[in-house]
Amino acid sequence: MGEAIYPVPAEWAENALIDDARYTAMYQQSVSDPDAFWATEAQRIDWIKPFTKVKNTSYHAGDFGIRWFEDGTLNLSANALDRHLATRGDQIAILWEPDSPDEAERRITYRELHEMVCRFANVLKDQGVARGDRVTIYLPMVPEAAVAMLACARVGAIHSIVFAGFSPEALAGRVEDCGSRIVITADEGLRGGKKVPLKKNVDAAAAHAPGIEKVIVLKRTGGDVPMVAGRDIDWHTACAAASPENTPEEMNAEDPLFILYTSGSTGKPKGVLHTTGGYSVWVSATHQYVFDYRPGQIYWCAADVGWVTGHSYLIYGPLLNGGTTLMFEGVPNYPDPSRFWQVVDKYQVEIFYGAPTALRALMREGDEWVKKTSRASLRVLGSVGEPINPEAWEWYHKVVGEGRCPIVDTWWQTETGGTMITPLPGATALKPGSASRPFFGVQPLLLDNDGTIMEGPGDGCLVIADSWPGQMRGVWGDAERFFQTYFTTFAGYYFTGDGCRRDEDGYYWITGRIDDVINVSGHRMGTAEIESALVAHEHVAEAAVVGMPHEIKGQGIYAYVTCNADVEPDEALRKELIAWVRREIGPIATPDVIQFAPGLPKTRSGKIMRRILRKIAENDVGNLGDTSTLADPSVVDHLLANRPQLA
Ligand code: WTA
Repeated sequence: MGEAIYPVPAEWAENALIDDARYTAMYQQSVSDPDAFWATEAQRIDWIKPFTKVKNTSYHAGDFGIRWFEDGTLNLSANALDRHLATRGDQIAILWEPDSPDEAERRITYRELHEMVCRFANVLKDQGVARGDRVTIYLPMVPEAAVAMLACARVGAIHSIVFAGFSPEALAGRVEDCGSRIVITADEGLRGGKKVPLKKNVDAAAAHAPGIEKVIVLKRTGGDVPMVAGRDIDWHTACAAASPENTPEEMNAEDPLFILYTSGSTGKPKGVLHTTGGYSVWVSATHQYVFDYRPGQIYWCAADVGWVTGHSYLIYGPLLNGGTTLMFEGVPNYPDPSRFWQVVDKYQVEIFYGAPTALRALMREGDEWVKKTSRASLRVLGSVGEPINPEAWEWYHKVVGEGRCPIVDTWWQTETGGTMITPLPGATALKPGSASRPFFGVQPLLLDNDGTIMEGPGDGCLVIADSWPGQMRGVWGDAERFFQTYFTTFAGYYFTGDGCRRDEDGYYWITGRIDDVINVSGHRMGTAEIESALVAHEHVAEAAVVGMPHEIKGQGIYAYVTCNADVEPDEALRKELIAWVRREIGPIATPDVIQFAPGLPKTRSGKIMRRILRKIAENDVGNLGDTSTLADPSVVDHLLANRPQLA
């Protein structure tokens, strides 16, 4: 097919931690003898009590269970902080670049971060937070977000971070679901020069979440936010009064570390649960090998702490590895589209890890914004969150990396804890748009719709045959849902929800979700969630949401809405519904298109035929397939005749 291949540059093959031969040998061992392989890799962690058992996992109904290093004990915060103090106490752990280039940056050493975390851990304990308690974090991109996470890990509490772009309703739902008594927030966030009213949102959420007993408020902008006496606690005052010393709790490897809510095909977002030991080993190993990371290198992951990439590769992976991690509060195009690359130059960033959606947006602004910066410090570029189209890949490689930097296109999920399919910069020849080959211990398989394993090249459903240490361990509060969602579609396999192609060289090409999840700018949205927000509006009788191709966002949100009989839909209602969804879920769920439809295509048994709705949204109306099974085929003609004009 003549697709481009970029061989591993000679100096990379020579100097990288992992070259191709080593990849092959290590991969072989990782799947033929996972116990030996992971026992060795686990030595990267300081265990309080060493484990005697490595892997104890089954995907099958009778003895289902996922346990790694199950009798070992450790504390993640001690591994990310305390053990570095002797050798790198004065090294910068977190570089913080504020939203505006006119504000001062912060440079926080391991010693300073350690003290901040100890103090805040004591604040949590003073508030009665104990092992196993859930703590909700609703903070902007400031170092205190890392402090809050590490302090939870230190005292054995389970953090649940809610992305600071989510609405009060979404926040309240997540707080209630995990039953957290404490919310940690800031007065306001700052993004692209705009203020985000975080404390105000928490106050609004508290009206729906009576379980909130305490709110710890960090001062970020100094905005005038009223404090509720007896409930609200000022972060700085509390930390100043707390002791700078704190002994980390001894946690079992399988004790929960965090919950992170993510969207699936059905129902409300589910609380993906990760535990301590396996996750630590997994994020440390993947961060080191995937980025060829050496301690002290300046590393920048541009993801928000509110998403899994922020958890694993902005905070935990790099700090476990004694890294210097850069946290950027702002957005790629503020004050102008040079911002990312100016930050790269300012800190001499060596490794940059970002999302295709940002690259596509920047690509559209023209090369001059990139070319006016040096970027000579860059060595490796990463991509995550959605398929990267070959055009954006080539631009990233040629313009941003000047042809010098390997690109690691990392495929993974909230559920997988860390990278699963990815090139390694010293080992893998690159094909633009392909996540390439499995990481150590990962056994991808393609299944056809009947569940038969496909050999060789082909297109199928991506499943993973066996467990890896960073795998999620459960859905918070719903053990059955975990098994049901991931292990019953194809019995005995972990089902990813993604479609995938494998080529002649055994490279994997993720084609996108094959369930009712859409990926908007790298953010996962369940169509069911948006639908239930729409039908909550008094004028809406029914709604069906599907994805549509979008040049920048990858996918956009296309909503078909049937109004109540007494309602005449018009432009004003369209605007109102868009604002409504933003308010119910958050701006990331903003519908791109709303098409009013007196009826939706349904089978005689009343099931909405999404296949048809998807085709209309994709403007692929030449072949709608068989519509004869529809209860009322004329519905389709009406939909086709009334497609809104798209910009
Ligand atoms: C998609 C983000 C193609 C995929 C880490 C997956 C990707 C979903 C890639 C998980 C990639 C993520 N290439 N698709 N490199 N990375 N995806 O849970 O559909 O927010 O199932 O985790 O994003 O999204 P999540």
